[in-house]
Amino acid sequence: MNVGVLASGAGSNLQAILDRAHGREAQVVAVGSDKPGAQALARATAAGVPTATFPGSAYASREARDVAMAGWLAEQGVELVVLAGYMQLVTPAFLTAFPQRVINVHPALLPAFPGLEAIEQALAYGVKVFGVTVHFVDEGVDSGPVIVQRALELPDAVDPAAVRDALRPLEHDLLTSAVRLIAAGAVRRDPSHPRRVLVGRP
Ligand code: GRF
Repeated sequence: MNVGVLASGAGSNLQAILDRAHGREAQVVAVGSDKPGAQALARATAAGVPTATFPGSAYASREARDVAMAGWLAEQGVELVVLAGYMQLVTPAFLTAFPQRVINVHPALLPAFPGLEAIEQALAYGVKVFGVTVHFVDEGVDSGPVIVQRALELPDAVDPAAVRDALRPLEHDLLTSAVRLIAAGAVRRDPSHPRRVLVGRP
């Protein structure tokens, strides 16, 4: 399955996909960003994957940016879009181009702590269990159906950077396995329950 990745930052999740899924069930055929200097773009180039940037300032609206970005991804043959640290909300204009084919990794156990600064939100709340969610993207903020989740007990956590470091390997594992499972046809929506995602061979 041809995969397109959108990333705004360091791209460690992109790198995990390149290292562990690319060339197996999945082929990463395009990497896009809203940030021209994103390290993720350099990682893609190093792997020989085409890149493009879509900075907000170049477009009249978020929808216009998303139409251009979806068009470019479709031209590259993308069938599954992975938001891997992409720090923009995608609009319905984007989602209609890839129906039920956009996934995201989020550093919290959704539905707790959606949106920006999820780890900071969790620390402010005083939780003892942190975690990671990979979910389908819908029109809300981190509100689409959950594909896979994993929890991590950190009862003494106080430092967001330390929590982020502890969660990063979980993100890489969960995101790469979600991509591989989707590409292998092992992820389905339960027809009797629209929010339930069935993972595994039928
Ligand atoms: C990850 O923590 C992800 O959960 C969040 O943004 C971060 C991206 O990290 N949405 P990287 O750019 O993949 O290293």
